[in-house]
Amino acid sequence: MKLYLDTANVEEIKKAANWGVICGVTTNPSLASKEDESFETILPAICNNIEGPISAEVIAMDYEGMLKEARELAGMHKNVVIKIPVMPEGLRAVKTLAQEDIRVNVTLVFSVNQALLAARAGASYISPFLGRLDDIGQTGVELVRDIVDMIDLHDLDSEVIAASIRHPEHVQAVALAGAHIATVPFKVLEQMFKHPLTDLGIEKFLSDWEKKEAAHKK
Ligand code: G3P
Repeated sequence: MKLYLDTANVEEIKKAANWGVICGVTTNPSLASKEDESFETILPAICNNIEGPISAEVIAMDYEGMLKEARELAGMHKNVVIKIPVMPEGLRAVKTLAQEDIRVNVTLVFSVNQALLAARAGASYISPFLGRLDDIGQTGVELVRDIVDMIDLHDLDSEVIAASIRHPEHVQAVALAGAHIATVPFKVLEQMFKHPLTDLGIEKFLSDWEKKEAAHKK
């Protein structure tokens, strides 16, 4: 499973890029709205810091408007992937964009049927939102597993991006459920490194080393 960063914050992207574990970024209008700069400034900066797919979402909700925005965004950098919500006009746009070799990430997916429709329209990526399903008392990771199984069973080409990840347990669960990609907030990525026994282990290695060094100097 590949790891993407789910953020529009360029500083977070730079830090995560330095750790060498991230190979893509997803953004959405809510994430972009948290930043001071315009999205037209942010998107090229993201593309300059990560060599991999960068999802940028359309705002238009009609076919022609989506195509216009999608072509503009895709024209900004070769790695831009267009994010479009799963809806009839959206999937119509996915089909047209796929014919133009513009990759689309179909977003706000909450059922296997929506994922099937997205795959049939030619989506390169499908993003089920597991945290938001958990929020309403369903089990998001089960949806991710079911979509991956459906894609495999029917030999479809789309990759599944587990999105709306809220904590490290979500990441390991979707890795075991077979997601192709998990897109994680920066805070969750930081938490994934942490284990109290790792911290204790490092502390002990260093203190043992210092004791030995001190004994040699005597
Ligand atoms: O990738 C989608 C994600 O940004 C949504 O997360 O936490 O707003 O449900 P959340």
